[in-house]
Amino acid sequence: MDFLNQLVIPQSYEHISVLHFILNFVNVMFMPFLSLLLGITLLALFAEFKGKKQSHSLYLQFATECVETLVAQRKFLVLLGIVQYFAVLFAYIQLLQNTYANGILILSAGALLFILGTIFIYVHQFTRRKDSNENFQRSWLWVKLGLLVIIVSIYALFAGIEDAANPANWDEEALAVSLFSAKAIVKFVGFIFLSLAAGSSAVLFFYFVWDGGKKNISEEYSAFIKHYTLPIALIALLAFPIFLVINVVLIPQTGLTGILFAAVFLALLFVFFASHAVYGMMKEFKIKYAANLFYFLLLIFFFLAVADQSAVSSALQEQSAQLAFQYEKVHNELLSSMGVNLTVQTGEDIFTGKCSACHAFDKVVVGPAYKDVLPKYENDRAQLVSFILNPHKVNPVFPPMPNQGLKPAEADSIAAYIMVMYKK
Ligand code: HEC
Repeated sequence: MDFLNQLVIPQSYEHISVLHFILNFVNVMFMPFLSLLLGITLLALFAEFKGKKQSHSLYLQFATECVETLVAQRKFLVLLGIVQYFAVLFAYIQLLQNTYANGILILSAGALLFILGTIFIYVHQFTRRKDSNENFQRSWLWVKLGLLVIIVSIYALFAGIEDAANPANWDEEALAVSLFSAKAIVKFVGFIFLSLAAGSSAVLFFYFVWDGGKKNISEEYSAFIKHYTLPIALIALLAFPIFLVINVVLIPQTGLTGILFAAVFLALLFVFFASHAVYGMMKEFKIKYAANLFYFLLLIFFFLAVADQSAVSSALQEQSAQLAFQYEKVHNELLSSMGVNLTVQTGEDIFTGKCSACHAFDKVVVGPAYKDVLPKYENDRAQLVSFILNPHKVNPVFPPMPNQGLKPAEADSIAAYIMVMYKK
């Protein structure tokens, strides 16, 4: 993957924060989008299967309507799908540069598969002619093939992100190990259940709530839709938390943060509300419940995105510090090669100039040894930067540390430097 590393330069700390922000933003829209796509596809395929088996025309009608809706929205596949997939891919390429994570390879393959699936769905448009039944069937085949390829690419997205978010795996050479990690599989299965719930709730929402509900559908068909989607939604919502909890248990220690637990808790709370809404609808169908269900699901997606992103960014913290540290070196070398007088010194220079008089990495000088005080900042570099900019009394054994009058960028680079060096 060396050629990918050549494409990018090391990132400053600010830039890395921006990348995390982009990922977060993309996740909040991308995951619900993928989930609707997956959920509606599965509902349609299952309905088609049942319809053919029992030669039940309502199942077949429903399957056709679902797939037709997906095909009609195909421009979203490009706008929301491909564009966001590549945004995620490029963010990870930058965040993981200089590592040998398989995740990048998997994400790249997934992004290409997503394009391929979208092309298949577009092929349908050109081969579709209602005049001959054979043609018609063949064009549906393209759509189904496209949707299946997209499902595979969604799996690749999960496997890729899991690998990327788990630094312990990066040296793992075998691609198969990263591709079929327990975490990726658990996450994907959980996502399938969530998608079934999301797909059902979207169907209910668009048939019965949106714009006053669909006009001119028969009593029989509307009863059928409720009868088909509600039990699926309920089972899916009951199964999803199991996978979510297993998933949290499998998160490496470095990824566990307070934000993650809070977000997972809130997601579970709304899963609970959502299953109540579905249950309520099964007993007596009130439009209000269908709307609630839809909004609860959006909130579930929001909290899951927050939880994921928090796990990823804390798992990548050390990698980010390394990158920021390299960035500073490259940046300064560039500036000095152009003869620019450096205003921001490297972490190492600052350490020698301003800290080494009182600190060493492994022994007490005037101040404590870094190896004793830095572990507590492991997951919170911002806190360390703020201490350096504005030292306060910590340990009564020591005198207070005098303020070293650093600029924020300097405090940041010394913090990055000592966090990386104290472990060596
Ligand atoms: C004049 C001596 C002196 C200099 C110079 C100095 N420190 Fe300190 N530092 C101390 C002392 C003393 C403490 C202990 C303060 C306390 O525990 O209240 C300390 C504590 C610390 C701690 C531990 C904070 C904690 O939460 O326990 C860090 C980190 C630190 N210094 C970083 C730096 C960095 C980075 C520099 C250079 C920019 C620096 N220090 C320069 C004296 C110094």
